Amino acid sequence: MDLGLAGKQVFISGSTAGIGLAVAKAFLKEGAAVLVNGRKQATVDQTVALLQEEFPGQQVGGAVADFTDPDSIARLIDDLPLIDILINNVGIYTAQSFYEATDADWTRQVEVNLMSGVRLSRALLPKMLERDWGRIQFISSECASLVPEDLIAYSTTKAALHALSRGLAQLCKGSGVTVNTFMPGSTMTEGAAVFLEQLAAARNTSPENAEKSFFTEDRPASLLERFADVAEIANTLVYFASPLSSATNGAVIKLEGGSTGGSL
Ligand SMILES: NC(=O)c1ccc[n+]([C@@H]2O[C@H](COP(=O)([O-])OP(=O)(O)OC[C@H]3O[C@@H](n4cnc5c(N)ncnc54)[C@H](OP(=O)(O)O)[C@@H]3O)[C@@H](O)[C@H]2O)c1
Repeated sequence: MDLGLAGKQVFISGSTAGIGLAVAKAFLKEGAAVLVNGRKQATVDQTVALLQEEFPGQQVGGAVADFTDPDSIARLIDDLPLIDILINNVGIYTAQSFYEATDADWTRQVEVNLMSGVRLSRALLPKMLERDWGRIQFISSECASLVPEDLIAYSTTKAALHALSRGLAQLCKGSGVTVNTFMPGSTMTEGAAVFLEQLAAARNTSPENAEKSFFTEDRPASLLERFADVAEIANTLVYFASPLSSATNGAVIKLEGGSTGGSL
């Protein structure tokens, strides 16, 4: 299937690793031009080199910006070329008790998880509307619905993305621009592998058994009963970023393997 993405310019926040990097690869497979992002020049350069080696001759660039630093974001926005597809992927979390989370802990998660998408969308959406085509995607989480007790701040920022995304979609009424939110569940990244090792140590078992017990004990509604591969998330995002998905706007698309339960 030709997704019609060749030549589209994509920017993915937080894409030197994890889901963001897989999304970059999935867009490059479709012939799109990709700008990856991370906090350090060296890591961004390494990622660009890795992608250029895997996708020779394709357009790959890097943009350094730290989404905890408004000045760094302002510089990024000034330097960005015209963007057709904005993937608001960057997201951080701190697992901690609600009573121990300080204002600074909340502020950091709000800045990175929510305000990064606010600032980028405010800068890029008007130009998409002028050209009557564009895609903005927000990467939420199953936590927006499940709200684990040790992730209340993170879950709050993710739930806020749903309102932001729906509101922006309403600003695109009648146009060729769509804005949607995507809800992954537990997905196998380097961070997830460390989490499973820690869980295995805490439960005195192997990482494989820890993964099984995570789904029986912590995600009992999961139908997938395993961590998703990053490519499973990336492929879905790429389809919904394509011109083929023009009837999906203001939506929340679940990619959580059923972990949030229910029929809606
Ligand atoms: N993995 C999961 O199980 C899961 C589940 C549900 C939802 N999600 C969501 O999916 C998204 C991606 O998650 P992930 O697990 O792939 O993340 P990850 O592996 O932790 O992603 C790390 C990426 O984020 C960048 N980054 C971190 N802080 C940054 C900052 N302040 N400014 C700019 N870039 C920053 C890192 O860049 P450098 O280190 O190079 O600076 C790196 O590229 C997040 O929004 C997350 O909440 C993940």
